[in-house]
Amino acid sequence: MTGILYFSSTGNSLYISKCIQEKIKSKIFYIPTYNGDGSEFDRIIIVSPIYSFGLPYHVYNIIPTLSKHTPVEIVLNYGGMISGADYFTYMHAKNSGLNIRAVYTIKMPENFTLSYTVPKFYLNSILKSAPKRIKKVVNFIDNNTVNIPKSKKTKDKVYFKNKSNWYKIGQDFHVNESCISCGKCISLCPINNISFSNNKIVFGDKCVACLGCYQRCKQKAIQYKDKKKSFRYINPYINENDIGKNI
Ligand SMILES: Cc1cc2nc3c(=O)[nH]c(=O)nc-3n(C[C@H](O)[C@H](O)[C@H](O)COP(=O)(O)O)c2cc1C
Repeated sequence: MTGILYFSSTGNSLYISKCIQEKIKSKIFYIPTYNGDGSEFDRIIIVSPIYSFGLPYHVYNIIPTLSKHTPVEIVLNYGGMISGADYFTYMHAKNSGLNIRAVYTIKMPENFTLSYTVPKFYLNSILKSAPKRIKKVVNFIDNNTVNIPKSKKTKDKVYFKNKSNWYKIGQDFHVNESCISCGKCISLCPINNISFSNNKIVFGDKCVACLGCYQRCKQKAIQYKDKKKSFRYINPYINENDIGKNI
């Protein structure tokens, strides 16, 4: 059985995982709650967004813990710039001793939108053409293609510097008067960084910058600094409640 291990805050990676599952018999696991090492699978497919030209916290951390014998393929998705994240990921897996066979990249809608609104026509065109791009990668995976990234240029320094500052994003979040104290942000945070204090939502100092709370709050009550942006993104092809589930 193939194991698909995914991380996703706004559903793009979950959607890609489901497209793979339609073609390849597999079970999908959410990385932050997955406790295994992948040795129960005969093949591991990791599906992850690109963060700061590298990987989200949970994906970066799980790679060295995975079985060294099981073949691994990684499907990255991104909003605008890969800048060597595919080679960075390949090297991270290889240096961790994994049997890494392929890294793919797929363009999807951008979700790092704290200071930016994705124009509607652009968002729609990316969404409309996404299934075709995903299908191409799924076919490569189905054919067991070996795919090693060609360009060796990475932005490791930028990645590690940005990563060390991600915790500040949580500290720059606050909730406005639209907050109904539903606690959704608390339950979806992958690092348990959000809690109630005196009946008010507060953010701790462990934020991993996934922006799940910001994007998925129905009231748009979570605000970043004084930006007052109304644009929020969730992949429309999936059921939002499935983000974070094993399927
Ligand atoms: C903290 C953070 C950093 C990001 N960095 C990049 C990046 O370096 N390059 C890029 O093209 N997209 C970047 N993105 C956008 C996501 O990779 C992209 O929107 C992805 O499809 C989101 O996947 P998800 O919906 O499964 O969470 C970033 C997003 C976040 C939240």
